[in-house]
Amino acid sequence: MGTEEAPWWKRGVFYQIYVRSFADSDGDGIGDLRGIIEHLDHLAGSPQSLGVDALWLTPIFPSPLADCGYDVSDHTSVDPAYGGLDDFDALLDECHRRGLKVILDMVLNHTSCEHPWFLESRSSRDNPKRDWYVWRDGRAPGKPPNRWRSVMEGSAWTWDERTGQYYYHAFLPQQPDINWRNPAARRAMLDACRFWLDRGVDGFRLDVINYLHEDELLRDNPRRMGWRPYEMQKHIYDRCRPEDHEVLRELRSILDAYPGAMMVGETFTDDPAEAASYLGNGTDELHLAFNFDFAANRWSAARFRRSVERWEALIPEKGWPAYFLSNHDMPRHITRLGILGDAEARAGVAAVMLLTLRGTPFLYYGEEIGMPASRVPRGKLRDPVGIRFWPLPVGRDCARTPMQWTAGEHAGFSTAEPWLPADKSFPVRNVERQRKDPHSLLNLYRRLIRLRKETPALQLGSYRALPGAEKGVFAYLRELGGHRVAVLLNFTPRDRRVDLRGCPGKGAWRVLLSTRGPEGAETDPAEIRLLPDQALILSR
Ligand code: NOJ
Ligand code: MG
Repeated sequence: MGTEEAPWWKRGVFYQIYVRSFADSDGDGIGDLRGIIEHLDHLAGSPQSLGVDALWLTPIFPSPLADCGYDVSDHTSVDPAYGGLDDFDALLDECHRRGLKVILDMVLNHTSCEHPWFLESRSSRDNPKRDWYVWRDGRAPGKPPNRWRSVMEGSAWTWDERTGQYYYHAFLPQQPDINWRNPAARRAMLDACRFWLDRGVDGFRLDVINYLHEDELLRDNPRRMGWRPYEMQKHIYDRCRPEDHEVLRELRSILDAYPGAMMVGETFTDDPAEAASYLGNGTDELHLAFNFDFAANRWSAARFRRSVERWEALIPEKGWPAYFLSNHDMPRHITRLGILGDAEARAGVAAVMLLTLRGTPFLYYGEEIGMPASRVPRGKLRDPVGIRFWPLPVGRDCARTPMQWTAGEHAGFSTAEPWLPADKSFPVRNVERQRKDPHSLLNLYRRLIRLRKETPALQLGSYRALPGAEKGVFAYLRELGGHRVAVLLNFTPRDRRVDLRGCPGKGAWRVLLSTRGPEGAETDPAEIRLLPDQALILSR
């Protein structure tokens, strides 16, 4: 396939913006849409830009913020803290002018308990919207309908005194699940998607898309071993139900009417096979699915290679892989993967991997400057999970601290006290400073993205692991139309050798990019030496 024929979401690099934390334009300590507009140069359209192709904005909709915006109370407008619909239109125009696509984070599984739909639904048993949510009688007085647990904590059922029934919520009690079997509710949700497509968005990131349906008979899940109650069930009846696929096929047909529109699903499961199933036959459900394997791996060449190979094998022939290392729900990877090692150097190796694998890369704001998982003091926590389980390190605020633009007050994020404190690293770790340093992580990301853009084999080429590497090295070949690019990743703090004689093709390899040491040189294929924690990209 020629590069021109491949859709933008296969060729491009996505950048996830946690809207509340990216840039505050009006001095209230909360990131907003105008703030993003003011910082677009960082992302695309200017010589110093990172050069990403698409933005994923975390939910921008009105929300009482029980779950930081994933509890939506109106799916077709913008939360006043972030701006208005006119600001959104301005952002979209400005992005499109720069060739940047924009996808929105749609939360279809549940709404806020303050959504007018739910207020109606809970008002009486015969309200027309009663069936828009999942209401059931208890199995005995004081006992919820079954043993399903909420992902967040406790039973997934909350008793509602007023009408004497329980309602179901896979997440917080403030996030009641929509009943996707109800045709009117389903239509209303799909209409919300159409609303944004009509406004010009390029697609969606779909929140917990494998949670839409629940088993009609509400059967209890079988038990399994796990470290907390939610993990102690095998989730076969409360997620990944066959009916979800039918909704995705309908959604796909809606998107197909908008040229270029795409959707990436948060397929929230630790089983990549389940995630891949949401790609359907590769053309009729999701365009891309997230695989949480990468997020669970420790720093090991063998682990990452296994994840990639498993994922490659699961992706349908007409489908396409996607990869991410960090998002707003987990400690940032420089910290996670950096323990007991040179975190900065590993972040460079990880960046090379993410941006050279066969599949669409998703970056998380701040990873390009190596923002760490922050230690947010107890009194400043905002994430309900973090507050509930403190001091267990399961909260997510650590990954949501303000973007570090400068060494100035509040990291240049805002003139006011930010909603979450900036990480203490900002005086040395910030965009302004890294821009000036040719060896910074930021400049590595820029160079990688540029190289990827100029190298069709890196965008669309086939993938295959290379033999001939010493232990602790993940080595692979990307190949397109006879052009070969080899990627060698040293996951160890020691020198390593790779023998590339087994590779197809003839002639010397030229170093296209190195995270340390010289570039441009030709090397002997019989013995390529890797420095500790070094990544190399070679071409022949
Ligand atoms: C996944 C989102 O990424 C997370 O932040 C949220 O808490 C849950 N879905 C519930 O919407
Ligand atoms: Mg559901």
